[in-house]
Amino acid sequence: MTKKTKLKLAVLATLLIGWNAKADEGMWLPSLIAQRIADMQEKGFRLDAEDIYSINEASLKDAVVLFGRGCTGELISPEGLLLTNHHCGYSQIQQHSSVEHDYLRDGFWAMSREEELPNKGLSVSFLERMEDVTDLILNGYTPDMTEDERVAIVKKNSKALIAEATKEGNGLRATVEALYYGNQYFLFLYRQYDDVRLVGAPPSSIGKFGGDTDNWMWPRHTGDFSMFRIYADKDNNPAPYSKDNVPYRPKKYFHISTKGVQEGDFTFIYGFPGRTQEYLHSEGVRYIEETSDPHKIHLRTVRLDIMNRHQAESQKVRIQYSSKNANVANAWKKWQGEVKGIKKMKTVQTKQEFEAAFAKWAKGGEFDGVTDRLAAIYAELEPYQFATDYYTETVRTIEIANFAMSIARLFIQEDSLVTFDNAKASELAESFYKDWYLPIDKESFTAVMNEYEKNVPAEFKPAYYKEKLAEYGSVEAWAEDMFTSSLFTDPAKTASLSPADKERVMSDPATVFFNEFLKWYYADILPVTTRLNQELQLVYRDYMRGQMAYCRPQRIPKAFYPDANLTLRVAYGHIKGYSPADGTYYLPSSTIKGIMEKDNPDIFDYNIPQRLRDIYATKDYGRWSDASGEVPVCFIATNHTTGGNSGSPVINADGDLIGLNFDRVWEGTMSDIVFDPEICRNIALDIRYVLFTIDKIGEADYLFDEMTFTE
Ligand code: ARG
Ligand code: GLU
Repeated sequence: MTKKTKLKLAVLATLLIGWNAKADEGMWLPSLIAQRIADMQEKGFRLDAEDIYSINEASLKDAVVLFGRGCTGELISPEGLLLTNHHCGYSQIQQHSSVEHDYLRDGFWAMSREEELPNKGLSVSFLERMEDVTDLILNGYTPDMTEDERVAIVKKNSKALIAEATKEGNGLRATVEALYYGNQYFLFLYRQYDDVRLVGAPPSSIGKFGGDTDNWMWPRHTGDFSMFRIYADKDNNPAPYSKDNVPYRPKKYFHISTKGVQEGDFTFIYGFPGRTQEYLHSEGVRYIEETSDPHKIHLRTVRLDIMNRHQAESQKVRIQYSSKNANVANAWKKWQGEVKGIKKMKTVQTKQEFEAAFAKWAKGGEFDGVTDRLAAIYAELEPYQFATDYYTETVRTIEIANFAMSIARLFIQEDSLVTFDNAKASELAESFYKDWYLPIDKESFTAVMNEYEKNVPAEFKPAYYKEKLAEYGSVEAWAEDMFTSSLFTDPAKTASLSPADKERVMSDPATVFFNEFLKWYYADILPVTTRLNQELQLVYRDYMRGQMAYCRPQRIPKAFYPDANLTLRVAYGHIKGYSPADGTYYLPSSTIKGIMEKDNPDIFDYNIPQRLRDIYATKDYGRWSDASGEVPVCFIATNHTTGGNSGSPVINADGDLIGLNFDRVWEGTMSDIVFDPEICRNIALDIRYVLFTIDKIGEADYLFDEMTFTE
């Protein structure tokens, strides 16, 4: 590393240390939490930095795991018992469900260790340690190099570092992550366990209560939890599933507080937030607010209308499309809240003002012209990004085309690797046809491709598309042909495919549709967006340091923490209601009474188990009611969270578990871009409702024997 880079990094380090923003905003790195601990303690926290993260002693980090591909989970017993969300364990619960044992509908509770269900492909990872490796990663880099050369060096050094860090094997895996747009690099070393068994889940009428109607909303009454157990070999080491494995003994597990929560209480969240973009230039935000989100929302509204109409007409279709619908609806609803929030906060305008002042300050110095360069790159990127957004939200959503391509890939591989494999094809076909309804896919094709035709400029459409459309005369005629002549509309034809059918599969209209767009995307769009995103990365790296250098000495109250990137973070705040609109104030907690108020046997999302009605009628709450005599269900707090924080432990001032994070309030979903402490709230499940459900609905209170309650 050159002197100049060293100096830059040293400056960055001094800018980061001791910077004390007072708001609840922030997702902090656990290994650097000592820098925040005074503020946390001032706000009520009663433990020390070493209790949160320590490399020598067991600390709370040893009780938190990355669950599956994008959720968080926490250990709640010395015998590997783990808590996460129902929506995080959903696919596992679904996999074990059949008509005879519908665990999604009825819930599932293992009544002994033998009844716990193994899950192929599910793993959890503990963070062993994290470490600043910026010097090592940039070794060999000089500032005169291009971004391409820098990327190559970072890649090479990362690879070597990862190999070194994981050489012991034994479940170790590592990643090197760029923070602050590559101003800093951290190594994250994990130990991964692959034998994770399902212990219990409430019925969906509790675990998914409120469904998509209540999703992203407060007041909320969803019992969004499920339980698993981690297994290890006899020496407590990671091992693939074996019936000889034994429950994993964690270094640390959470003690559970049933004392209850009050407005104003300190809370802290420990988990794996996925992605935020808090330091964007105004042009980046403007594109999201004015163009990207509105178009994506509209395209999804069109698809959801079609799905909803067909789902309402048929019970079978309702089930077939329930998970697909939920996936489409989740981001669709979030984006709407996000746009409203950005507008309400006037984020583009605020950022423009900030950038103008910044540019003036930067004149003649290291950061001169940085904001203009960003604006220029965005101007070039925007039409390509728009084409990408349309491509992903239209062409890539056509189910039959995706399926055709997945079958075609079996033939393409034939040249290099294997011959077309019937077993693999029928496996793909089985899972595709089980949940595919032709009229939805066809109507969707017509609707989204008409939007595509209308909104995407001609120069950003593939030649193939333009020729085909001219040939057919209309999107409708194209749809008619594709959905009658494609062999993939007929499961019997797909089932009879043999290695000799390569030509037929490759020239099928559904395959060609997918493939031609794909080729165009790789040739005409992706290279440009990749290049421009790299340029952005490079300039943002300067702008990031520039923002710190500008704000701090002038005491501009702006919190600086690395954007979320699915690495372990700490967010802290307190339990607090909010006012979503003029004349309205929301209290910070909900109870079982609210479930009964929503209860409606005629509305799928609000139809609760009869058992819950009976319990409510007799107030048979056991030890789980609060001072008001009701069972608490959910609460909200000011912790800064995002997707990936699902299942994260919500922890009180003493480090004990009081809840389980699972969502955010709709009016605050712009917090991935801009955080407003007045409005942004995370939504958590009160641990007492979890315990109540285990006890009174699941009748699995034997599980309490292995838990530790603090009072
Ligand atoms: N909104 C929560 C999250 O972002 C819950 C999602 C559960 N899915 C749903 N469509 N209700 O993941
Ligand atoms: N439900 C989200 C998840 O799966 C958490 C909600 C959010 O985005 O904050 O991670």
